[in-house]
Amino acid sequence: MAQLWGGRFTKETDKQVYDFNASISFDARLLAQDIEGSKAHVKMLERCGIITGEERDSILAGLDGILADVSSGSLQITSEYEDIHSFVEANLIERIGDAGKKMHTGRSRNDQVALDMRLYTRDNIGVMKDRLTDLLQTLLTIIEANTNTFMPGFTHLQKAQPVTLAHYFAAYFEMFRRDYDRLCDIYERMNYCPLGAGALAGTTYPLDRDYTAELLGFTAPTANSMDSVSDRDYLIEYLAALSIIMMHLSRFCEEIIIWNSNEYRFVNIDDAFATGSSIMPQKKNPDIAELTRGKCGRVYGSLMALLTTMKGLPLAYNKDMQEDKEAAFDAMDTVESCLVLFDKMISTMTFNTDIMRQSAAKGFTNATDAADYLVSKGVPFRDAHGIIGQIVLYCDRNNKSIEECSLEELQAISGYFDNDIYDHISMEACVEKRLTKGGPAPLRMEEYIRDCRKWLSEREMRS
Ligand code: ARG
Repeated sequence: MAQLWGGRFTKETDKQVYDFNASISFDARLLAQDIEGSKAHVKMLERCGIITGEERDSILAGLDGILADVSSGSLQITSEYEDIHSFVEANLIERIGDAGKKMHTGRSRNDQVALDMRLYTRDNIGVMKDRLTDLLQTLLTIIEANTNTFMPGFTHLQKAQPVTLAHYFAAYFEMFRRDYDRLCDIYERMNYCPLGAGALAGTTYPLDRDYTAELLGFTAPTANSMDSVSDRDYLIEYLAALSIIMMHLSRFCEEIIIWNSNEYRFVNIDDAFATGSSIMPQKKNPDIAELTRGKCGRVYGSLMALLTTMKGLPLAYNKDMQEDKEAAFDAMDTVESCLVLFDKMISTMTFNTDIMRQSAAKGFTNATDAADYLVSKGVPFRDAHGIIGQIVLYCDRNNKSIEECSLEELQAISGYFDNDIYDHISMEACVEKRLTKGGPAPLRMEEYIRDCRKWLSEREMRS
């Protein structure tokens, strides 16, 4: 048991207490961030005349050595240490002797862990932005290839009006684009450096917090030392953003599960992304989509866990906050793997475009257009709605679609029908006429695609 704080204690820590208290099993993943933060701190200590140039160089070399040895596997992070901070400090002192004991001058583990977690989250936001960009690229490729692939659009899961596959996927493009922007907003707001807040009340050393903030790529130091060590808002915001990403993925997965069902057959999930049944030989199950939908629950769980952990905490640091890590790491890992697998699944998925088109042709998806046709002939919309309602009833009884009715049959219900009705309610016409901004008309979608390409290339240039 290697502890940093034995001085005022008269007894060894109970073994179970030690294990319960320790965080090394999960904060080991903060090693790179812990070392990065310590290096900045030590450079600042030297600059402010608190340690010598020689001590600084010795500490910096020692820290680099620890990172290199852990990466190569010659040094192991073990449960002998309480947390990652203790591991680094103990190893440093072992390597370089007394100079190592000066590293923690003017610092507490409270501002240290607040910094480590911020650095880790900041990096992870970058990873998540890259994964989202990959997915947006895949979506845009599918969108570009399918501006004339007709399919039904639904409300209440009932066929409503015809759209295109491009338009459908563009709806998801918008959701993930907002997710990307949300991550950028969080990054901006969280990018302040807590280092130098000490345990809670700053320190009496003349620390240059602006310098460490700058070295670590932060906008500025945080403004209040108590808030600095007790704030996990950025993590809660991030878990909320991750939850929203999962909600979007889960909705998309739900669609794919429906489209892949025997009844719909709109899509074929690639064999590499489906699984079979141990008893039913015919089965090909959409497990990746189902698991992604299922994992949404654990990410929401992480958000709720941290919100609940934080809700009763008085200022400033409390050990409860150590609970932020496992929940956050699990959510980060889960969302990243879901984004990667979902992207692969949809880029290998094929579309049964004939079945989609046939499906869009059935279920009176052109009924609104038929009513609009009557409006163009001078019938008030509410009356036109009633007339088409009667026609739908007639068609339903006679098992045919509106365009399968003869002109005589249509005229028997309303004299406003003419031969040009058929052109007005063809699937192509129904979609092509929907030229409203944001609508499915291929012409509109071409513009939309150009905007999205531009948006994506600007984002890629920046990262
Ligand atoms: N393992 C701790 C955490 O994750 C590090 C900070 C410990 N600070 C303390 N005062 N015990 O929160």
